[in-house]
Amino acid sequence: MAKTRSAYFCQSCGYESAKWLGKCPSCNQWNTFVEEIIEKANQSVPDWKSGSKSMQRSNKPAAIHEIVFSEENRLITPDKELNRVLGGGIVSGSIVLIGGEPGIGKSTLMLQVALNLPGLKVLYVSGEESEQQIKMRAERLVPDSGKKASKSADTYILTETSTQNIFKQIEILQPDLVVIDSIQTLYSAHIESTPGSVSQVRECTAELLRFAKESGTPVFLIGHITKDGMIAGPKILEHMVDTVLQFEGDRHHVYRILRAVKNRFGSASELGIYEMQGSGLREVSNPSEILLSQRDEPLSGITISAMMEGLRPMLIETQALVSVSAYGTPQRSATGFDTKRMNMLLAVLEKRCGFKLSAKDVFLNIAGGLRVEDPGIDLAVVVAIISSHEDMPVDTKTCFAAEVGLSGEIRAVNRIEQRIAEAEKLGFEQIFISKYNLPSGRGVKTSPEWQKYKIAIKTVAKVEEVFNALFG
Ligand code: TYD
Ligand code: MG
Repeated sequence: MAKTRSAYFCQSCGYESAKWLGKCPSCNQWNTFVEEIIEKANQSVPDWKSGSKSMQRSNKPAAIHEIVFSEENRLITPDKELNRVLGGGIVSGSIVLIGGEPGIGKSTLMLQVALNLPGLKVLYVSGEESEQQIKMRAERLVPDSGKKASKSADTYILTETSTQNIFKQIEILQPDLVVIDSIQTLYSAHIESTPGSVSQVRECTAELLRFAKESGTPVFLIGHITKDGMIAGPKILEHMVDTVLQFEGDRHHVYRILRAVKNRFGSASELGIYEMQGSGLREVSNPSEILLSQRDEPLSGITISAMMEGLRPMLIETQALVSVSAYGTPQRSATGFDTKRMNMLLAVLEKRCGFKLSAKDVFLNIAGGLRVEDPGIDLAVVVAIISSHEDMPVDTKTCFAAEVGLSGEIRAVNRIEQRIAEAEKLGFEQIFISKYNLPSGRGVKTSPEWQKYKIAIKTVAKVEEVFNALFG
């Protein structure tokens, strides 16, 4: 009989210890150790092709010039946003983890992908919903998915949580793509502890990883996230998989962002944008148009910034409201923008430009429920604050793309030409950028490569220059 063994696991990073510890030596979190029972691998339980030759194969070192390189085999899905985030389609044999808050639309996204792959056998394994529930959702996403001859005819639903049973069905069905919803509901008979525990999640992922690599079948894992936004389970889960995608957005807004956090087969700075509709997720191929609110007359406190999300330029609206504080301590709150960074920008305005903002409430809001990390939005934020403070609107055809430094200097940002081109495409008439974005010592007029733009490019070095140009 197999001997029962238990160990303590850090629930935050997956560190294993023989005894309980108050503080995790690996991630320095307190009180995260939980005892989990691990049973030694029981030989009678079949593993994914355990005992077969392929498992015992040992590799010999190969000289790098002898290794034959072939372009990875990619499965192009009809979902262009997903293809983009994955770096150009699903790589065969890859394992992709997709995390996100409950109700954000992870199951919807994966089911939609599964239903829209005509001619490919997709196995959708759900440990969370019943077959009826999934069928109901499928009817919403692809209305004729219930018919035998529809393009979704080759999508199979399996409600199962034991990995051994899942592998049994996989061997019978031979799918081209496997979706697991969710990794936290699976359990492997090799391990005693409950589904969702660190050791179970790790074991189930390892088994699926072995399956994906040996069979060349891509696997998507849906993962829950904890209350601080990390993917629940050990951090090593993210190390084990090839790609980690984060599905995020404000649940009260319709826009959702699919972001690559890690990608072994492409850029990790890509992102896809979706709109949640009554009939599933719709791809948003031109984000700028939806992120700008339609308005004709200029309003104070509103500015437009040409920012980059991943490798995509997009124009986004920033709104600021500055008002006299009713209480002793002024309130500062930002939605979609880092509050610390906003406080820093307020300090710059106070100290370097002489605006009296310390007794004012300041509220900042980025349109569309997006979270912006690109520092290129700084200048738009600063101008929005001053525009609201002075109650002087900024022209609707003006946009900004620059970072603001601690001494009030305007700093250069990356990919400036893409930002300018996007602003010009959307009909803006002038854009403020840092003068350091130009080749040193040259102006817009003297740089031939800058002549092609019809939009007026204003180069500035200090925040005051921007205020003088805008508000006189
Ligand atoms: P779901 O995919 O169940 O989220 P997760 O798997 O990440 O927990 O998301 C469901 C949410 O999306 C739910 O609140 C209803 C909404 N929704 C739509 O708005 N339109 C649709 O077509 C579907 C299927 C769901
Ligand atoms: Mg779900």
